[in-house]
Amino acid sequence: MKAIFQTKYGKSGVLQYGEQTRPKLKANEIRIKNYASSVNPRDWMIRSGRYQLQFLVPSFPLILGSDYAGEVIEVGAKVKGFKSGDKVFGMKNPAEGLATYAEEVVASAKGMTLIPKGISYTEAAGVPLCSLTAWQALVEKAGMKKGCKVLIIGASGGVGSFGVQIASALGGEVTAVCSQKNAALVTDLGATKVIDYHQHDFLKSEGRYDIIFDTIGRHNLSKCSTKLNPGGTYVSTIPSPKNLKAMVITSINAMFSKACKKAKVVMVKAEGSDLEEVAKLISAGNVKPVIDQVFPLQQASQAHDRSRSLRAKGKIILEIQ
Ligand SMILES: NC(=O)c1ccc[n+]([C@@H]2O[C@H](COP(=O)([O-])OP(=O)(O)OC[C@H]3O[C@@H](n4cnc5c(N)ncnc54)[C@H](OP(=O)(O)O)[C@@H]3O)[C@@H](O)[C@H]2O)c1
Repeated sequence: MKAIFQTKYGKSGVLQYGEQTRPKLKANEIRIKNYASSVNPRDWMIRSGRYQLQFLVPSFPLILGSDYAGEVIEVGAKVKGFKSGDKVFGMKNPAEGLATYAEEVVASAKGMTLIPKGISYTEAAGVPLCSLTAWQALVEKAGMKKGCKVLIIGASGGVGSFGVQIASALGGEVTAVCSQKNAALVTDLGATKVIDYHQHDFLKSEGRYDIIFDTIGRHNLSKCSTKLNPGGTYVSTIPSPKNLKAMVITSINAMFSKACKKAKVVMVKAEGSDLEEVAKLISAGNVKPVIDQVFPLQQASQAHDRSRSLRAKGKIILEIQ
């Protein structure tokens, strides 16, 4: 099969397009003819050897990629609920082998679900990792409920664009922190208030929140504490020592006081059942993937450079012919 692979760590130039061995199928896995993947910031961190969990990354020749969207072509002996021809999407973490920048992907049945009707493989590939991060941060970590006031830092990015839509679909009142140039986009996604981070510091603006969802990592619980309501949660995608320490301390304190403000860190899990919840929101027209740019698989290095710029509006997609 054709794939993007690398035989050493380095800049985007280490990515090569060429023939690689087809992955073996285990009994609990499904083989997919993969039509699209997406670029996530961790891809270029792994590519350069600087990912925090690099020890979990498979050895060389390394095929990167977490997201996949394609058609089932083979089903492992122990798999139930999927058949050849199903259109599925999902994600794989480093410990699950990555390798979705490829024409064929094998993945655990537990991590995937059916692509909702009405979206293409190209759009579907932008959904799994980022929407699952947003869902698990808001719903599982922060206990998102109808009526919650939610502030989302980095609202125009891959994770943030799903965060805005999921929080507003679940009945939240969303304030987006992003650049003025992306204000119309996040308003269209459901934000009722926008704070341009180049002009205003949300820490100095009006309002308090039940949830602060930080996808950028320049803040932490102690900085944001005055902007949280009693019992509120600061949840971050960045597992910094400060965030992890605050998570441990506040989870203990929260056992003794309902008013305790909590810190949480989300580490995305490949959960097909969570992705099914997102798929329902897509089917209902409440969530849509925002696409920044689409590249053919052969141009993965350019797609990485675009992601590395940290300016993407939504998702960067790799299309596989
Ligand atoms: N822990 C996990 O499981 C997990 C899962 C997914 C992602 N992550 C991490 O979460 C972070 C975000 O991921 P992503 O995929 O959303 O990234 P992304 O799509 O590359 O984010 C790009 C967006 O960030 C915005 N941005 C940059 N600096 C900003 C700032 N100071 N304030 C507000 N917005 C800013 C940019 O908007 P402007 O152009 O307007 O600045 C752009 O729209 C990454 O560090 C990623 O590694 C962690």
